[in-house]
Amino acid sequence: MGLMTQSTMKNIVILVSGAGSNAQAIIDACANGQINGRVLAVISNVPEVYALERVALHNQSSPHKIDGITLNHKDFKKREEFDNALASKVASYSPDVVVLAGFMRILSERFVDQFTGMLFNIHPSLLPLYPGLHTHQKALHNNDNYHGCSIHFVSAELDGGPVVLQSRIKIADDDNEQSLAFRVAQREWLIYPLLISWFCDDRLYLQNDQVFFDNNKIDKQGLCYEDLTI
Ligand code: GAR
Repeated sequence: MGLMTQSTMKNIVILVSGAGSNAQAIIDACANGQINGRVLAVISNVPEVYALERVALHNQSSPHKIDGITLNHKDFKKREEFDNALASKVASYSPDVVVLAGFMRILSERFVDQFTGMLFNIHPSLLPLYPGLHTHQKALHNNDNYHGCSIHFVSAELDGGPVVLQSRIKIADDDNEQSLAFRVAQREWLIYPLLISWFCDDRLYLQNDQVFFDNNKIDKQGLCYEDLTI
């Protein structure tokens, strides 16, 4: 890889709380060149999660090392104290993009403001439907025809902020929570690396709460992966 490519590479920091399958998909997409960026750190607010194990495994076999960091929110008395410590840690990597990948804590407005326009979250529902937990159960309970996942720029409200990209799956008669969870996760592993690649190629940005993709305004429900022609 030439120096030119290296110098334009974007710095990525990923925040996790659990299994880290989305973090893995992004790490892999950087390794195989789909994303013009490098993951510098994976930070977990929960100790000993599998996401950190994934980082350790990556570091065993790759020359590009990723910092695997635990910042346990339980070590802090107040939400703002944790958020401030997290913000300093994230900022120390001079990130171009901060990725919430199964990060299960609400971030304070101050944190969100500091990284606004470079902060993304993925959520397992077709937002604005079903922010919060148990999204697969809710889609089944409501006899929805479709379910899916959404990636959005993050605002301070739970699973809130302008939606950029969604992927939609049709719910089948024999679907249950587990089958839906797996099928949605498979779409997440596709669309999160894709979206991060757009952002790292400077094709995507946020201006006054409006999302632009290739200089076109994107409407409120975001782009639909299944309808993409690019
Ligand atoms: C993903 O399904 C993600 O959409 C969800 O947590 C899972 C994390 O899986 N996020 C949220 O629910 C955010 N509100 P992973 O740790 O294997 O990437």
